[in-house]
Amino acid sequence: METILRNTFQFLGKNRTVQRMARRYGLKFGASRFVAGETIEQAIRTVRKLNEEGMMATLDHLGEFVGTEEEAVESAAMCVRTLEAIASSGVNSNLSLKMTSLGLDISKELCLRNMRNILDTARRYGNFVRIDMEDFAHCQVTLDILQQLRAEYDNVGTVIQAYLYRSEQDIHDLNRLKPNLRLVKGAYKESPQIAFPEKSKVDENFKKIIKLNLTYGNYTAIASHDAAIIADIKAFIQERGLPRDAYEFQMLFGISEDLQRQLVNEGYRVRIYVPYGVDWFGYFMRRLAERPANVWFVLKNLFK
Ligand code: FDA
Repeated sequence: METILRNTFQFLGKNRTVQRMARRYGLKFGASRFVAGETIEQAIRTVRKLNEEGMMATLDHLGEFVGTEEEAVESAAMCVRTLEAIASSGVNSNLSLKMTSLGLDISKELCLRNMRNILDTARRYGNFVRIDMEDFAHCQVTLDILQQLRAEYDNVGTVIQAYLYRSEQDIHDLNRLKPNLRLVKGAYKESPQIAFPEKSKVDENFKKIIKLNLTYGNYTAIASHDAAIIADIKAFIQERGLPRDAYEFQMLFGISEDLQRQLVNEGYRVRIYVPYGVDWFGYFMRRLAERPANVWFVLKNLFK
């Protein structure tokens, strides 16, 4: 049953017709638990509140898989506006983005042009931009673009997914760039040819690549709500005597809030991933696919 639900949410999250319908009806079905709002003003308000609670943020203007150059340029403009809003409001947040929303599937050149525009703005404001990692089909091109951009900018980083067999080698290869990496388990449906199908193997590899990246001395964002893994990494960090500014913990807005607060109270750097925008549907479906137990939460909201 859980597998059926997971596959259904993953399918719905990619379906453009359903996405368009959802867009028309506004934040519904409990999506506001995971999405900060549809406007930048709502998102900044959320970030300010998180800052007051001792947490940093990374804002993500939602949108993926654009079909035209105009949509890609508009999406880049929204990223620029987000960076401007962060700067003018004075909140503590950087930016996360998806390159498919900047035209990666249309042409690499278009995407690079948009990325440079965004990174120039970020640099002007002394801010940082993280490229989210999407499905496996975009993994190599994302790393190629990161490498190209790192030659020009030091305020850009990306994400490595522990479920991919290739990721350990990627951490070794990327070390020459001294990258700022976010490490995650991985959120997309991938085949066993390229990704560990067993959760236990993903968890093992996750701990392994986090420790590897920390050992290389590269800034590491440990992005997880898995309390056992976080405890294991905290023990490793303590054993090695790593300084608190060498890493941060990251979690998603609305998930495991007790654990978020606990880490803040223990003095760790914590950053919350805050998505916003009218294209909230695909993101919402991925959160449901991760945890079909959330379906009950959605059903309750259907009747509100
Ligand atoms: P796991 O899935 O094992 O969950 C551990 C516990 O966390 C669960 O038992 C539950 O208590 C809680 N939990 C997890 N997900 C929940 C949910 N949806 N609802 C309620 N509770 C939940 N992926 C990717 O492929 N590319 C990317 O760029 C990113 N970026 C990213 C940024 C940040 C800040 C985070 C935290 C995560 C990502 N991810 C991601 C998603 C990531 O790959 C992964 O799918 C989720 O973080 C869930 O994995 P956990 O490590 O939390 O463990």
